[in-house]
Amino acid sequence: MHEERRSVSEAITSRRATRAFLPDPVPRATLKRILEIAARTPSASNIQPWHVDVLPGATRDRLVSAITTRFDAGDFGEEEYQYYPDPWFEPYLSLRRETGWGLYGALGIARHEKERMRAQHRRNFLFFDAPVGLIFSIDRELPVGSWLDFGMFLQSLMIAARAFDLDTCPQQAFAAYHEVIREVLGLSDARKVICGMALGKADVSNPANTFRTGRISPEQFANFHDCTTRRRLKTGSLEPFILIFTDLRCAAHRHVVVCRKLDGLPQDGMGFAIRARDIFEQPSGPELRVGLELFA
Ligand SMILES: Cc1cc2nc3c(=O)[nH]c(=O)nc-3n(C[C@H](O)[C@H](O)[C@H](O)COP(=O)(O)O)c2cc1C
Repeated sequence: MHEERRSVSEAITSRRATRAFLPDPVPRATLKRILEIAARTPSASNIQPWHVDVLPGATRDRLVSAITTRFDAGDFGEEEYQYYPDPWFEPYLSLRRETGWGLYGALGIARHEKERMRAQHRRNFLFFDAPVGLIFSIDRELPVGSWLDFGMFLQSLMIAARAFDLDTCPQQAFAAYHEVIREVLGLSDARKVICGMALGKADVSNPANTFRTGRISPEQFANFHDCTTRRRLKTGSLEPFILIFTDLRCAAHRHVVVCRKLDGLPQDGMGFAIRARDIFEQPSGPELRVGLELFA
């Protein structure tokens, strides 16, 4: 076991969903230490609602075999809890598509290649060949608040793994096969299967691991109250100018507009804010919150 020192920010930002692993085994002592660190996660009233089944060997293989047999027979299972919105709606739909196509693009899977997409989805149930599989479950009587605690625990575990230069992929895909999981692991009916996780050392040469996801920026998801966010502009540079506005809930939705006229120009150098709807008609759809960037 070799525990590295990493800065917290480096551990967080170097974590990514890893979808191909090397076969190198992870020592039991390392797994135990990672769980010990993750167990320092806070939970309201310190009730620590997490339960983990750690599968580094034969049980992992039995689970893989049981689930893939079902999958190959066209049984795609059914989740006990709803993870995704139904139906999908914006901006989440676009973000989801961006992620899906990004991954398939890295793997060279074209949009019409449904079989290859299915094969990629199937790799979830091999834990992406990771040497260790983890299954997370929660007492089904616990309400949604405990799922907050559990989510933090999952992140702690993934970050703790980085201290050992190990990689992970959280896998909600497993939730659909809760019955098989319960049977193979002998899990009580009193538990709900939340998700699985692959853990091991990333195979960096595999194209699945070349895909990088983006993030929306704090300016887009945070509202900084009581701060001056207005931009200062020189009126002389304002005609014509380019206005880029962003749907604050979805970085993928950027609109670029060349503006020729701006009513109510501010005094030279004066701070001001513009609402895009004052200037031009918005695209159809739900009202956009706008963030502005102005370029002369
Ligand atoms: C709770 C949870 C469940 C997830 N389930 C899956 C999954 O079943 N299969 C998969 O390939 N990725 C899964 N992911 C990975 C996400 O797609 C990934 O975290 C997201 O696209 C951001 O990319 P990054 O983790 O590389 O930053 C899951 C992530 C989370 C947080």
